[in-house]
Amino acid sequence: MECWHIRGGRRLEGACFVQGSKNASLPILAASLVCPAETELENVPCLRDVDAALRILRHLGCRAEQRGGSVSIDSRGLNGSEIPRRLMEEMRSSVIFMGALIARCGQARLSLPGGCQLGKRPIDLHLSALRQMGAQIEEDGGEILCRAGKLHGAEISLPFPSVGATENAMLAACTAEGKTVIRGAAREPEIGALQDYLRTLGARISGAGTDTVTVEGLQAKEHASCRIAPDRIVASTLVCAAAATGGDVELRGIDPRQFSTVLDFLNRAGCDIISSDRSVRCRAAQRLKAVGEVVTAPYPGFPTDAQPVLMAALLRAEGRTKIKETIFENRFRQAAELCRLGADITVSGRTAEIWGVERLQGAALTATDLRGGAAMIVAGLGAEGETLLFDEGHITRGYERFDARLRALGADVVLEY
Ligand code: EPZ
Repeated sequence: MECWHIRGGRRLEGACFVQGSKNASLPILAASLVCPAETELENVPCLRDVDAALRILRHLGCRAEQRGGSVSIDSRGLNGSEIPRRLMEEMRSSVIFMGALIARCGQARLSLPGGCQLGKRPIDLHLSALRQMGAQIEEDGGEILCRAGKLHGAEISLPFPSVGATENAMLAACTAEGKTVIRGAAREPEIGALQDYLRTLGARISGAGTDTVTVEGLQAKEHASCRIAPDRIVASTLVCAAAATGGDVELRGIDPRQFSTVLDFLNRAGCDIISSDRSVRCRAAQRLKAVGEVVTAPYPGFPTDAQPVLMAALLRAEGRTKIKETIFENRFRQAAELCRLGADITVSGRTAEIWGVERLQGAALTATDLRGGAAMIVAGLGAEGETLLFDEGHITRGYERFDARLRALGADVVLEY
């Protein structure tokens, strides 16, 4: 059990860089086995989820090492297509290995993935996309067996722009015979990052960032590389922490357009947002204002992953904010914990209503999930007195040395293992 000791009431001030993106790194790690090649990645965050992906690669016979932000993988030694349940259950994005293994081996055996409990999180769209390319898939008691042999290109229409299903379809399509067109594709920046990496691996792929991604095969290269972009959700968390503490924080080396919806709401709440191409500064007002209604949506809409941290930033904002969560059924689990600090939040189904209170008082909290836990840190920073946040390792799945990052900005935070 990890315990965060947070003494609130200090303004966050200063400038910092943002860690590499978890959700860009994970599919790229899976993609490294699409064909036999050596891969060099830079700016990969040191996180439990990244470590889990590296262990899956090693289990499959690949060499996979991380030194600081550098990851090197040699997938030429791949000698298996089965991932045991204990490795699958460590995180949700282990499911992306399915598309990669089918592309490389023509088969995959794995079990249903783990990850944050945010709702049902089925994988029907992943399976349907792979079936349309010719994969035969059997499901039995949480075990999934995919047999494909040689896949064929297909016209796939996703009824919802699932990030993971788009990624799985892109990977499987790389070695399929003929052209694959994925319509209704997710447009998140992480899809663009995966496309960039796959191109260095020799894939002919285009359209990432639009709702139609086209894959026309792969002329396999022996070496591939890429640099992981900064994490837009960690960046969102840092600006929300600045807002919650009346602070003044500049994030350097990051493209603010990737989280502009978050910045827009903070601006509406009364923060000055000063953006350039590669940096953003958030200078918070003394007391924030409520922002009306926030509705989560697939990119370029307001990100569900930033919903809990924005909620935390607005707990003391004057007036009422309504948040509608449209992506996951169960993503307000942080609300009950935040109320222990004195917040006034009412949750009804997929809507939460927050009435800003004058002050929050530190309390003992338990992290419910990754972003919910981050929200509790943000709220604790804006509360008076000490908040103790107990966490079974959710937060360190996605935030790299976050305690040190916050201390460098003036926070009084200690993470005890
Ligand atoms: C990715 O998850 C992210 N994870 C999540 O980040 C993020 O919350 C999510 O996209 C939405 O932006 C990674 O990139 C590793 P989805 P993913 O498939 O791919 C439903 C974080 O905190 N759905 O776009 O699993 C699903 O149940 C995490 O870093 C189906 O119904 O998300 C959900 O309601 C958590 N059937 C919605 O779509 C399917 O086959 C969005 O899921 C697939 C998804």
